Amino acid sequence: MKKINIAVDGFSSCGKSTLAKQLAKQLGYVFIDSGAMYRGITLYFLNNAVDIQNSEQVANALKNITLRFEVNDALGKSDLLLNGNNVEAAIRTMEISNKVSPVAAIEAVRTFAVAQQQEMGKEKGVVMDGRDIGTTVFPSAELKIFVTASVEERVNRRYLELTAAGTQVTKEEVQKNLLERDAIDSTRAVSPLRQATDAIVLDNTFLTREQQLATALNWAQERTK
Ligand code: DC
Repeated sequence: MKKINIAVDGFSSCGKSTLAKQLAKQLGYVFIDSGAMYRGITLYFLNNAVDIQNSEQVANALKNITLRFEVNDALGKSDLLLNGNNVEAAIRTMEISNKVSPVAAIEAVRTFAVAQQQEMGKEKGVVMDGRDIGTTVFPSAELKIFVTASVEERVNRRYLELTAAGTQVTKEEVQKNLLERDAIDSTRAVSPLRQATDAIVLDNTFLTREQQLATALNWAQERTK
């Protein structure tokens, strides 16, 4: 069977990474969470007091950042390493969620991340989730899925995920963060969140994870024949 690249895009917390992870596992592909890279860069900027309005500081900081994914066998996924340190927990906090979108909107940051993402997909066999994978990173991906779900459902899922991890947060805070990120991600000048014209929409508001996976697997199998 031929190997393909699969782009999974959509708004925040609509189940993109769950789907991408499951698809990669079923197909024996590599799963890449491109948002983790923007989160890792944001963490570095915060820890090193980089002023994101200052393009020289941003450019210098990017020269000092190395991002790598390392397979975490226990969890069946990959952890992000920032300059060799595992930052998987540190990049999932509300603080990073609140600060990542303006960082991801910086052109130099996107050039830096996209070049690495494209390199990872050169050999095919990659399922990458993000916002601009089908439009910018892999414009010729054989399968592009644009995932959507109602705002209410997305807030619920994200709230459950955060509280299960022990984060003290209200649903109102989660909703505010989600909507703010969606607005910044879809209105930024560089590579905004857009549905690629050849993407297939997968609305999972009323789908179980299993139903969502079965639908996407069918699409993938059609394209690998
Ligand atoms: O998927 P996520 O919530 O972890 O993404 C974090 C942020 O990075 C989010 O604000 C959108 C941005 N992002 C992006 O601009 N392009 C991508 N390919 C992936 C994420």
